[in-house]
Amino acid sequence: MSNFETIIYQKKDSLAYVTFNRPHALNAYNIKMRDELYQVLGAIRDDPEVRVGVFQGAGARAFCAGADLSEFLSAPSPVVARQARWERDIWRLFLSIAKPLIAALHGYVLGSGIEIALCCDIRLASEDAQFGLPEPALGIIPAAGGSQTLPRIIGGAKALEILLSGRWLGAEEALSLKLVNRVVPRKKLIAEAERLAKRIARFDPAAVSHAKQAIIRGLDLSLGEGLELEGRLAASLL
Ligand code: COA
Repeated sequence: MSNFETIIYQKKDSLAYVTFNRPHALNAYNIKMRDELYQVLGAIRDDPEVRVGVFQGAGARAFCAGADLSEFLSAPSPVVARQARWERDIWRLFLSIAKPLIAALHGYVLGSGIEIALCCDIRLASEDAQFGLPEPALGIIPAAGGSQTLPRIIGGAKALEILLSGRWLGAEEALSLKLVNRVVPRKKLIAEAERLAKRIARFDPAAVSHAKQAIIRGLDLSLGEGLELEGRLAASLL
């Protein structure tokens, strides 16, 4: 187990558990968490023992309530922020991980909380989960990939409605929009995520990773290009 300041990183057998651990601030995503998450994602990508990642929030109330608003006003200038993003492109890293990632979502899943969930492949939500993108109300836009990942999952029209209106969704509506794969009782959330992760971890990791890449990379291709990608990935497995 690695204990960072804002994240607990645990490896159990072939699973990696990432727990956002600032429950006093509803696991709000701050600069320290960004730096630690970057390290954790690198570990998941590079550690051959890790087959599946499971992301969760500590405490009873939230997966993550978005960017830390107390740092908001002291943020670096846009130029400095852009330079930092260039040097350490955490969201591209997140989305490039070829291993399956599961998000176990409870309580508040706001702003970068949703965006982190959207970087994962399978989203399980507990009945108490609440989803929202408050960025436009704060005079900003999502900057953790959400403007691109959300419409790819739920379609442009619904993504626009949710982002522009700032309206929050409960777990059942999130399920009906396919924002989450499944809704489970709060008590069963982590056990269900673990059960799924263990099931996937039993399969051949190369087949799993190729299957993920075929779908994720294929989403950005034409059908013809996607079929070529599938053919190449299938051949490279043999
Ligand atoms: N950044 C920093 N701290 C946050 C936070 C955030 N995004 N969200 C919650 N917190 C802190 C609160 O400041 C509070 O700290 P305190 O106990 O030291 O005062 C603690 O977490 C509990 O939050 P609180 O607001 O008291 O809980 P609540 O149940 O009344 O409201 C929310 C919960 C989620 C509705 C409310 O906290 C909220 O609107 N948070 C901001 C969400 C947001 O806009 N995120 C940014 C997206 S870009």
